Amino acid sequence: MTRDTATGTSPKELTLDPGDWESFRALGHRMLDDMVDHLSTLREQPAWRQVPEPVRASLLEEPLPRLPQGDEAVYEEFLRNIRPYPNGNIHPRFFGWVQGTGTPLAMLADMLASGLNPHLAGLNHAPALVEQKVVSWLATLMGFPEGTSGVLESGGTMASILGLAVARHAKAGVDVRKQGLQGGRAMLTVYCSTETHGWVQKGVELLGIGTDWLRRIPVDEQFRMKTGALREAVAADRAAGHRPICVVGTAGTVNTGAVDDLNALADFCQAEGLWLHVDGAFGALARLSPRLAPLVAGL
Ligand SMILES: Cc1ncc(COP(=O)(O)O)c(C=O)c1O
Repeated sequence: MTRDTATGTSPKELTLDPGDWESFRALGHRMLDDMVDHLSTLREQPAWRQVPEPVRASLLEEPLPRLPQGDEAVYEEFLRNIRPYPNGNIHPRFFGWVQGTGTPLAMLADMLASGLNPHLAGLNHAPALVEQKVVSWLATLMGFPEGTSGVLESGGTMASILGLAVARHAKAGVDVRKQGLQGGRAMLTVYCSTETHGWVQKGVELLGIGTDWLRRIPVDEQFRMKTGALREAVAADRAAGHRPICVVGTAGTVNTGAVDDLNALADFCQAEGLWLHVDGAFGALARLSPRLAPLVAGL
């Protein structure tokens, strides 16, 4: 059934509301039932299947719809052409990459968040307080000091790139926010290990530091950054007139789960006046386990 959601309103009142709330409600209930069926039977489904050629062609070649298709027709297409062909990351037997699975309850929470569609830039409202509270709970769990601040980001890459931006502001030696990198004389250098996740390359590219100035420090037999080699690299850059700004440590590398010696990195950075950024995307939550917490003590 095709339904034009633009109808059902008087010409005086243009709205994005559904044309008929009851059929909207019915569609919503159906979507929820279908997704719960899908998630609860995931284990019986293949982790992945090839997108058939006709489906691929239909998705890629569908012309721009200039007229309303109707919400039910679009949903049918989702059921037919999209839901059966995910990359598999929510399947329990997906072992190829480290990609989050999400949870059924998070799916419902996403619906609540989208339903309220809060704008978190400020003003006096409850959803903004939730973000503040979640950040402060995380800070407490991680054992961070009173007054710790933060923001929720869309994922590990964005969180770390933002962290590197903070490091650059703090340590560039010029007011980067005002002058950009044009104000600096020395080349800014950043240090990570050969095991650091690929976000760091995107970060130095995006922040105008450049991959030529990213030093990939070798690792020991346990895949942890060699602190001696780090020391030498920083000293060599200083001797050449460059400006070291930041060391990137990792609490749980994506390849092997290795945790850099964060305490040693922290001591080194403090002595050298460098910013220490720790990528905890994979392993920071080890902090919650009494057995594993010592691994990430330097956080
Ligand atoms: C250690 C580490 N850092 C960063 C990332 C990037 O996270 P995202 O994919 O959420 O951007 C990952 C993802 O696997 C990771 O394991």
